Amino acid sequence: MYLIIVFGNLLIILAVGSDSHLHTPMYFFLANLSFVDICFTSTTVPKMLLNIQTQSKRITYEGCLCQIYFFVLFAGLDIFLLTVMAYDRFVAICHPLHYMVIMNPRLCGLLVLLSWVMSILHSLLESLMALQLSFCTEVEIPHFFCELNQMIHLACSDTFLNNMVMYFAAMLLAGGPFVGILYSYSKIISSIHGISSAQGKYKAFSTCASHLSVVSLFYCTSLGVYLSSAAPQSSHASAVASVMYTVVTPMLNPFIYSLRNRDIKEALLRFSGLTALKGSIVLG
Ligand SMILES: *[C@@H]1O[C@H](CO)[C@@H](O)[C@H](O)[C@H]1NC(C)=O
Repeated sequence: MYLIIVFGNLLIILAVGSDSHLHTPMYFFLANLSFVDICFTSTTVPKMLLNIQTQSKRITYEGCLCQIYFFVLFAGLDIFLLTVMAYDRFVAICHPLHYMVIMNPRLCGLLVLLSWVMSILHSLLESLMALQLSFCTEVEIPHFFCELNQMIHLACSDTFLNNMVMYFAAMLLAGGPFVGILYSYSKIISSIHGISSAQGKYKAFSTCASHLSVVSLFYCTSLGVYLSSAAPQSSHASAVASVMYTVVTPMLNPFIYSLRNRDIKEALLRFSGLTALKGSIVLG
């Protein structure tokens, strides 16, 4: 599954980069999302695979903090990029005539930069707070990676401030983008409702169907994890549920986008044709 994630998302980045038909804001954001998905899974899965291979479940304190830092960073980036993509669809469908003017390269770059800066600051805050915690003895984390929530639970020192910051940031970071996405889609749906022809309705909706699938997948799995971890004595269940959003969601993203989308399919075909051609020239 890890290889599928890396190669599937890499293929999307290459397809978007190599094909000038796909040099639009929507596909630039998609390529960014693919890049973040590769990084996101690479913070947890390789270490887990190593643990399985060496039959040792140890991780150093520094390694653990590192994992927390990058995990929080890329999870935040995932959410921000999904929100930016929802805004992009909102402009494309509700203001189609101004789309090229509003979503100019400068604004696109700014939105991506802003997502990075906010995620870095948030993750820095969370991991610096985790750095203050002290642990009594060797601790055992009932999870397959160092999760911030579990670390805070296992600390010996006072964790009130950590919990406050974590829940407040989670509310702000998951709730804010969620409201933004919801608002964009309510506008999109009311705008599509106004289109009279069935064909026009379908055409408008099909451009955001892939994005809507990815967003629902991301939020549903995260909500599942949250609900399953809210129940007591179920850290095992929550670890199983985390596999969903750390592995399954990033794996499905490329499939959702490439199977449903003709532009991406064509770009991939052109891309593979191009490399085959180059190969035959070398062979010749
Ligand atoms: C990410 O988005 C920016 C801004 O649209 C774009 O310039 C850049 O190429 C994208 N990154 C990738 C990996 O496609």
